[in-house]
Amino acid sequence: MTDQTPAPFAGPERVLSGVQPTGDLHLGNYLGALVKFARLQHEIETLIFVADLHAITEWQDPSKLKNQVREIAAAYLATGLDPNVATIFAQSAVPEHAELAWVFNCVARLGWLDRMTQFKDKAGKHKERSSVGLYTYPVLQAADILIYKATKVPVGEDQRQHLELTRDIAQKFNNDFDAPGFFPLPEALTQGPGARVMSLRDGSAKMSKSDPSDQSRINLTDDADAIAAKVRKARTDPEPLPETLEELASRPEAKNLVTIYAALAGRTEAEVLTEFAGQGFGAFKPRLADLAVSVMGPIGAEMRRLLADPAQIDCILADGAARARALAAPTLAEVKRRVGFWAG
Ligand code: ADP
Ligand code: TRP
Repeated sequence: MTDQTPAPFAGPERVLSGVQPTGDLHLGNYLGALVKFARLQHEIETLIFVADLHAITEWQDPSKLKNQVREIAAAYLATGLDPNVATIFAQSAVPEHAELAWVFNCVARLGWLDRMTQFKDKAGKHKERSSVGLYTYPVLQAADILIYKATKVPVGEDQRQHLELTRDIAQKFNNDFDAPGFFPLPEALTQGPGARVMSLRDGSAKMSKSDPSDQSRINLTDDADAIAAKVRKARTDPEPLPETLEELASRPEAKNLVTIYAALAGRTEAEVLTEFAGQGFGAFKPRLADLAVSVMGPIGAEMRRLLADPAQIDCILADGAARARALAAPTLAEVKRRVGFWAG
């Protein structure tokens, strides 16, 4: 009798995620990703990196890139990642990512990449002027994850498709190189009310670093006045808050503010409605602003404190890179052996 189901992965659970050093982090990054990193580190072995290789898929000023990496590292630390618990490092300090990505470029199919919506969004109308790196970006992301045989990847909702591609690459590698169960098929952890925070100016667009309007997002480094002003000016409608989630569903801007409140307060959206149903935004917004300031204010302050001592951040990143390489090297050696490379 033949067994059709692929061999299961037998290794340990491992968490991996990363953020690109391409601009100020915002509330969406915080709720969709960073909050989860800090929580997961105490449950499962966790590696969190700064994706500087991904960053250069779009032009970055070389004189600023190192500092941008430090800023993301500072945000990780300020939101609760502990370098004695989690492994924190810069992607470019672990060359195994790029080397595995090359092998994966030869495993992934053009047809798979052609379907990636993030590339379509980022390339816009000028696809032919985008870098080739932007196109194969999700292949490098698969290598980031699989070089550590990570099984769980905490990310926002927008990254789901890249995780599906990662699973396809893992599966095809395992099949093509007669390596059943060698790579795990990792899972995206997108649960939670902050999985898709929307712009404060447009309830149909995701809150994003690349939105030209700073009013559309709350940055981790915004001070209390800036946070309060952005919440006050956030787009809403004239109706009071409804009693049920069904009524809220057709009001994207109102829903977004309720979602943000719930995520920041660690409550469900239904609980928030129970408290605020019947109240207008004139009453709700100041409460949301106070909550946002109380959560984000200390994070911004801690980031500024950490960034005043860059040498300490560099030390943490160097130590993390050494630990990450120790995990990555044996996987790459095994990949090279299985592929049949001359130099292994
Ligand atoms: P951006 O889209 O602002 O450039 P990134 O692509 O660097 O942000 O995302 C870093 C992490 O934050 C990813 O895990 C991503 O899924 C998450 N994320 C980004 N924007 C949001 C959002 N609006 N809501 C929830 N999570 C988000
Ligand atoms: N693509 C992710 C983003 O836009 C960043 C990223 C790069 C990543 N490599 C990763 C996330 C590996 C999780 C795992 O946010």
